[in-house]
Amino acid sequence: MTTFETSRATLEYTPAVAAATAEVYERVRAVVPPLEWPVHAPYIDAIQRLKKTRGAVVLAHNYQTPEIFHGLADLSGDSLALAQQAAETDADVIVMCGVHFMAETAKILSPEKTVLIPDLEAGCSLASSITAADVRLLRERYPGAPVVTYVNTSAEIKAESDICCTSSNAVEIVESLGAGRVIFLPDEFLGRYVAGRTAVEIILWHGHCEVHERFRAEDLRAYRESYPGIQIFAHPECPPDVLAEADYVGSTSGLIRHVEATRPERVMLVTECSMSDNVAVAHPEVEFIRPCELCPHMKQITLPKILRSLEQMQHEVTVAPDVADRARLAVERMLAVGRGAGG
Ligand code: 13P
Ligand code: SF4
Repeated sequence: MTTFETSRATLEYTPAVAAATAEVYERVRAVVPPLEWPVHAPYIDAIQRLKKTRGAVVLAHNYQTPEIFHGLADLSGDSLALAQQAAETDADVIVMCGVHFMAETAKILSPEKTVLIPDLEAGCSLASSITAADVRLLRERYPGAPVVTYVNTSAEIKAESDICCTSSNAVEIVESLGAGRVIFLPDEFLGRYVAGRTAVEIILWHGHCEVHERFRAEDLRAYRESYPGIQIFAHPECPPDVLAEADYVGSTSGLIRHVEATRPERVMLVTECSMSDNVAVAHPEVEFIRPCELCPHMKQITLPKILRSLEQMQHEVTVAPDVADRARLAVERMLAVGRGAGG
């Protein structure tokens, strides 16, 4: 029998735990080696039981590892889906298995709920690329231009913005404003991608995702040569020359939908590592070629930290009410565009 220490008790991989988690393991066995399961299963079993006691839901971004994404999440998806689901759930407690800005967005939309993040170090290079003072300076420099802010930002930045967007709705949001010029923050590459698809003039900031900026166009060309027939699907946080090599560009959920719709024989998802694992679970017929770039922030979230988070009700994410009220307007305007209610 294998045993593991937690902050509270000893966790054991007992026959009962094996039986309780057998169905989940069946689902993820193609991407989680059998040797690893006795390590994950006791945590999954303990967290599932504690979730019920606490009245909690676990939200997981598409970049979480398969044992979290498939083993624990009640709700999952891209940044937009997580924001929508956080607004709609009636659970008392939300455990955000994602990064800090996602937990803040959940808190902004559900101020009455307790929002927990298992590790406060789960940040984002885009969110830390800009300050509220920067946004105010841009507004002074471009008077009258509305500020469209990618959700990968702190609540403080959202509070300075007219409307938010995600990678799945950025073009639609920019066009919904009816403006000739918009300030688009903070992702330069997503901004350039949007600029290529609209007549609206886009004022850019120089923020980058530290994961997606590492991909190189020449590497993609080399993959095409080595793997004949490969389909390349990329996230719009990648540099423009990388996107130019791609057969399809979309948000994380867009990439999943495109795999489902086109069922390529062989595909490469140019985005964070865990995506391919999570999608491969549902598509054993597709060969995934995996150029692995890890997000160090997403990977701060682990099963032991999720368990500790629920045991100790930590780390609670709060947003000052005046900031939350202004940020909520920007997020709700975005959600309203998605519902067809206009900006
Ligand atoms: P989406 O899931 O919205 O595509 O965002 C990707 C990302 O980098 C989230 O941090
Ligand atoms: Fe931020 Fe990039 Fe990590 Fe997403 S993948 S959380 S954008 S650093």
